[in-house]
Amino acid sequence: MPVPIQPEELKQFVETDEAPAAYLDLLNAVSFRTAGAGLRLGVFEALADGPLPLDALAEHTGTDRLGLRLLVEALAGYGYLERTDAGYANSANTARWLLRSAPGTFAPVLSFWSALVTHWWHDLEESVRRGGPTGDFYAWLETRPDTLADFQTMLRRLADWLGEEIVPLVPLGAGATSLVDLGGGHASYSVAFLRANPHLRATVVDLEGALRQGAQTVAAAGVADRVDLRPGDLFGTEIGTGHDLVLLFNIVHGYQRDDVLTLLRRAAAALRPGGRVALLEPLADVPERPPGVGESFVRMFSLNLFHTQGGRAYGLDELTDLLGEAGFTDVRQTLLTRSDTDHLVVATLPSGD
Ligand SMILES: C[S@@+](CC[C@H](N)C(=O)[O-])C[C@H]1O[C@@H](n2cnc3c(N)ncnc32)[C@H](O)[C@@H]1O
Repeated sequence: MPVPIQPEELKQFVETDEAPAAYLDLLNAVSFRTAGAGLRLGVFEALADGPLPLDALAEHTGTDRLGLRLLVEALAGYGYLERTDAGYANSANTARWLLRSAPGTFAPVLSFWSALVTHWWHDLEESVRRGGPTGDFYAWLETRPDTLADFQTMLRRLADWLGEEIVPLVPLGAGATSLVDLGGGHASYSVAFLRANPHLRATVVDLEGALRQGAQTVAAAGVADRVDLRPGDLFGTEIGTGHDLVLLFNIVHGYQRDDVLTLLRRAAAALRPGGRVALLEPLADVPERPPGVGESFVRMFSLNLFHTQGGRAYGLDELTDLLGEAGFTDVRQTLLTRSDTDHLVVATLPSGD
């Protein structure tokens, strides 16, 4: 949570430059880190049913009394907790967003990004110096089941929300029978298309751990018999030909230009003439996007992609060029109304008529 600050103090940091703005960043960085610790130590969940005194909270969370006291005092200072006569309590914002059972909970997002920033961003200088990632992000994720579950849950919940808007925006004829969801993981986007198209079947390609959540999604939706969950590599797994649609949702930003082109050519080779590829991406260089949280997110995310995977957010003109090089025409993009950063880009393989 942004650290509490008086309007006069804020002016000194961001208007008159009498104070270093980086000091606020330091406090906010520590606020973010302590919130991650509160979440992972189970402090917020322990307070879900009401306030607890320090000793009871230490017992619930299995933590050291002094360490916990200093942590909860910091969390109270940052607004995550409150001090009450009955002990420490979750603040209204924490109760609304950081409990795992809260509707639309932010807990998986905070938990995932907290792990990512802690484990990956410590050597940001190195990737910038060398021009590539310092490790294999998805291999790392596959070895951390809890972080992987948070990652896929975060994406699945977004997909459950965006899928409803996306499906009607991707033209699929009544005779459409198959789609391929490359890097489809949690499988929620495939399920959204299957729900709207009763004759459609889906092949979802992803790494083994990621597909575990995909298996749960398709079972819960009752469409397991129409989905082939295919563990394997995006670039090499057999996906067949003659499909109506290939989804590359939040995939191309993980790669540099040459690999993006390879993926798009792979999509083209898997489609029937007249078939479509659909990309979902937070686009870079969108002049109409106002400065604010969305724009800040895309800049942070692009740097994160470069550091962890060697990728970045692409501009629409770059994607249009790449789609053209891969043989696609009629590139159309839509900024979704349900997101201030996600763009749907759909392109068509010429029908050959
Ligand atoms: C950012 S997620 C996108 C998931 C989903 N398409 C969405 O939009 O919510 C990228 C997905 O690609 C998968 N992935 C990354 N590298 C892969 C590889 N080399 N082979 C197969 N899947 C891979 C990840 O496991 C992950 O599920």
